[in-house]
Amino acid sequence: MKSLDIKSSIHSYSVYIENHLLDHLKEHLDQNLFYVIISDDNIPFVYIDKVKKACENHLLILFPEGEKSKSIEEFSRIVNLLLEKSIRKDACLIALGGGVTGDLVGFIASVYLRGVPYIQIPTTLLSQIDSSVGGKVAINTEKGKNVIGSIYPPQKVLIDPSTLETLSERQFSNGMGEMIKYGMIADKNFFERIKSEDVHKNIEYFVFHSLEIKKQFIEQDEFDNGLRQSLNFGHTFGHAIESYYKYNKYLHGEAVAIGMVMVLSKAEVRKQLIEVLKKYNLPTDDNVHLGELKDYINRDKKNRNQLLKIVDVLEIGSCVITKSQFQL
Ligand code: GLY
Repeated sequence: MKSLDIKSSIHSYSVYIENHLLDHLKEHLDQNLFYVIISDDNIPFVYIDKVKKACENHLLILFPEGEKSKSIEEFSRIVNLLLEKSIRKDACLIALGGGVTGDLVGFIASVYLRGVPYIQIPTTLLSQIDSSVGGKVAINTEKGKNVIGSIYPPQKVLIDPSTLETLSERQFSNGMGEMIKYGMIADKNFFERIKSEDVHKNIEYFVFHSLEIKKQFIEQDEFDNGLRQSLNFGHTFGHAIESYYKYNKYLHGEAVAIGMVMVLSKAEVRKQLIEVLKKYNLPTDDNVHLGELKDYINRDKKNRNQLLKIVDVLEIGSCVITKSQFQL
């Protein structure tokens, strides 16, 4: 088993990464607690079953699969259900599933009764290497992605990379978009390994090292005021494209792949990125006109003083944040 300790000014927590961790999940859970397991209605039932068996006292809540569930309506429905079932502050929520589940459940945990604990059990590559760690939780509105949210760390993150075996190829590639991003912004050697190796064969390492990279950024800038914004490489245009297509056309990692290509200022770096994106069947462009994205880009959370903050990679393995490239 590999593990990482993440320092947070709110509370520090551990991330455990182990193939087949779900088969002995009970060891990681305090049986004196009441658990509310929250998941989407398309998750393989075998995972729900394993988590239920590991929690002596529990309630299961399911919501419709997909980004559209990160909505105010679904948030209200689940909060009302928790109230109806008299779930108190001493219960612990479990977010079992992908990034949508983690973001929605984490956001509910951050505000329900002014905050209850939650555990992340991510089952997709995207959520294992990114969204389950760092405490960013949020829901969307029609006008933008993650525009209502907070930074609220989980009690722990339990990662079983063997769950990725049931993931569709498209969902795996979706996560690869974020993994490639880590190589681009922070580690050229990692980028080269993603390019040349079969990631599936050594998945525990690739998940672990992605999180080692993420840890460096989130521990130094937990509240996303500077350095952590580097993790948003490709996301300014990526989020705008996702919102423009109302979350119907692209998965998050696919939109980020296009966003990374769009934002790069150096042709040579763009060429190398496109080569790796193609290896993982990720899209590299879209014919939407930049003007159509303007309103969505203007709402980007990194914007300050009317200037758009753009993360660029001038050389693979490091990044810069510029403020002047695109004036709003
Ligand atoms: N996914 C980017 C971050 O956690 O800051």
